[in-house]
Amino acid sequence: MAYQVAVIPGDGTGPEVTREALKVLDAAAKAYGFAYDTVTYDLGGERFLRTGEVLPPSVLAELRTVSAIFLGAVGHPKVAPGVLERGLLLTLRFELQQYINLRPVKLYPGVECPIKGKEPKDIDFVVVRENNEGLYAGAGGVLRKGTPEEVATQLSVNTRAGVERCIRYAFEYTRRRGRKRTVKVEAGDLAAVSAGASGQTVEFTHRERGKMRARLLKRDEAGAELEATGILTMCGKTNVLTFEQDLWWRTFHEVGAADFPEVFRDYAHVDATCMWMVKNPEFFDVIVTNNMFGDIITDLGAMIQGGLGVAAGGNINPEGVSMFEPMGGSAPKYTGKNVINPLAAIGAAGMMLDTLGERRAAAAIDAAIAATTPKMQSMAAGKMGFSTTQIGDLVAEAVREGESRTRDEDEGRER
Ligand code: IPM
Ligand code: MN
Repeated sequence: MAYQVAVIPGDGTGPEVTREALKVLDAAAKAYGFAYDTVTYDLGGERFLRTGEVLPPSVLAELRTVSAIFLGAVGHPKVAPGVLERGLLLTLRFELQQYINLRPVKLYPGVECPIKGKEPKDIDFVVVRENNEGLYAGAGGVLRKGTPEEVATQLSVNTRAGVERCIRYAFEYTRRRGRKRTVKVEAGDLAAVSAGASGQTVEFTHRERGKMRARLLKRDEAGAELEATGILTMCGKTNVLTFEQDLWWRTFHEVGAADFPEVFRDYAHVDATCMWMVKNPEFFDVIVTNNMFGDIITDLGAMIQGGLGVAAGGNINPEGVSMFEPMGGSAPKYTGKNVINPLAAIGAAGMMLDTLGERRAAAAIDAAIAATTPKMQSMAAGKMGFSTTQIGDLVAEAVREGESRTRDEDEGRER
């Protein structure tokens, strides 16, 4: 059956990057044998200025029935900030219960990294951002507005169910990613270790984090060195946000100890996370965090992976309709010039395929992006050495090439 993809090209450079993403999607569909139909919606600043509508209820009703949504960009210089962001982007995230915002931070080959000496092998992690609650929930209010005694509150809403589904998704994602990672636990943190020689799987209890399971590599007075199936870092602020973070902390360790003991549970405060992302990004595998912290650290993530031109994201409802978007905005300054970098949008299309279950096609798009970045002069708009359209062509071609190469290999042919 054909996938139904709703396309919202949106504002500014949104339509230009969307066009290239669809070009690559088309190449992937032909090479990997899946079918899809698109329906385009003219939501965004122009429509709002023309009709006053941001997201008509009839459109929302249609969007509830599609296989996935692709969104180019929202944000229009003539529309007050927040109208489209809240009325369209956040409303879709909430209404469709896209409770995960998945943001890979990956440095592709040949991409200039602002951190000295870091290579693609050092920057390759994923942020799982809670996408429906926290400070984004819109709870709070204002009293005595406009007076010197004005009070404004913005409440962070965290529900056990909301936190738990996000954390479960992050554990499952870490397990599926399946990176074998060596971790160290200091003797002082090692409360108990089950019997087992080096090379064997042992159960151990971390003083603060509870039970985990890993392969013992080495044990001495200093502590233990273990091989875990991935590292999941909870990024929080337990030392200050004592109510919400306590809920996150307990949920994280309860769920992990009960159902994902083989995933190593790491923790870092959000400020320290920023520091480590610059100092030792290679440590991270998967990070799980709340909505606001996730918003902030993923912009930092975008910078260390070479800029917003390459940063893709997915708003995911694992049981429903998900929406994929490049992280960069509408970039009004570059609109219509055919100079914007479409790789983030193309990457988002790849993530869409991964979520739809087209794993091979998704991996092929990722590989095609990696084959294209070394040819580019820069990831920045206007400095790529290619136009927007040419980058789309290069990636689409690499998808076709990749497919015929795998087919030749499968059939044992020389090329
Ligand atoms: C993002 C954006 C949005 C957010 C804005 C546009 C509402 O910054 O997707 O990260 O804050 O989530
Ligand atoms: Mn953001």
